Amino acid sequence: MKEMLQNLREASIRAILDCEDAELLESLRVKYLGKKGELTSILRQMGKLSPEERPAMGQLANKLREDIEEAIEDRNKVISALRMERRLIAESVDVTLPGKKQTLGHKHPMYNVLDQIKDIFIGMGFEIVDGPEVELADYNFTKLNIDEGHPSREWTDTFYFTEDSSILLRTQTSPMQIHAMETKELPIRMIAPGRVYRKDEVDATHSPMFHQIEGMVIDKGITMADLKATLNLVVEKIYGKGTVTRFRPHHFPFTEPSCELDIQCHKCGGVGCPTCKGEGWIEVLGAGMVHPKVLAGCGIDPDVYSGWAFGMGLERLALGEYKINNLRLIFENDRRFLEQF
Ligand code: DAH
Repeated sequence: MKEMLQNLREASIRAILDCEDAELLESLRVKYLGKKGELTSILRQMGKLSPEERPAMGQLANKLREDIEEAIEDRNKVISALRMERRLIAESVDVTLPGKKQTLGHKHPMYNVLDQIKDIFIGMGFEIVDGPEVELADYNFTKLNIDEGHPSREWTDTFYFTEDSSILLRTQTSPMQIHAMETKELPIRMIAPGRVYRKDEVDATHSPMFHQIEGMVIDKGITMADLKATLNLVVEKIYGKGTVTRFRPHHFPFTEPSCELDIQCHKCGGVGCPTCKGEGWIEVLGAGMVHPKVLAGCGIDPDVYSGWAFGMGLERLALGEYKINNLRLIFENDRRFLEQF
């Protein structure tokens, strides 16, 4: 029996030391120490021994059980260490491999131009204001002295939301003049950039959505001289010192008098070229002195206060600045185009 125990010791310890798998190790434990295991079956034969032999054999068997248990425990530690090592190797990351490059976007070229304009006006003490694109016809037209029946109110030109033509997508940023006069303390110096909408087919110079910048000053004693001086300064900051301007009489319902501001073509110096379409001049914006009816409609006494306003198209400015010949490029957001700026 002693020999059987000795054989079991050798076989089991060797098997345990050879084992590399936790599950297999557990099955070895069952195989040797389980209820139907090999040690148990040896112990069953204790009955055959003489009473004198039994204690020594029992001790030997207990020692063997303890040793096998200890061997299994030790081996378990080794196996889990091995498993961890294998995992670390399998899941290792090569930190020296080149990374995936993250491409960082940048501001849209048109918004660079807008930022430039904002900076110019902020430098002159103007405030930047924002307002609704879904607008009441009252603000987009009526309060701006644009009467019922004016062609710009036609359904063919304007996106209306309601049958009664009372709610629409603003067709100009000029309603921001009304919002400002109704809500702000006087004096007012503000610009209001934003999207406007008109029923135009897309082509090289038209889009149903585009951007305008509205500007307005309301104070005591404001005259056309202030309008000219301020806009001349703005033009010089955008197009460079010495840029020649021309204020041409025009008509807008909400300003009186009204004008359009042209700059002499910076490409040809006024002789006429493709950039200015042979005209020698490039139209930049519409402007004028805020109409007394408009002031009065906003609760401002036209005998005490006066003001000037302008509205300009942002896309046109950006196209000129970056020598882009097609408006669609501004909106398509093709990265091959945008990444050039
Ligand atoms: N709102 C006009 C347009 O869309 C532009 C304009 C002209 C704005 C004269 C003004 C202004 O503030 O005084 O054509």
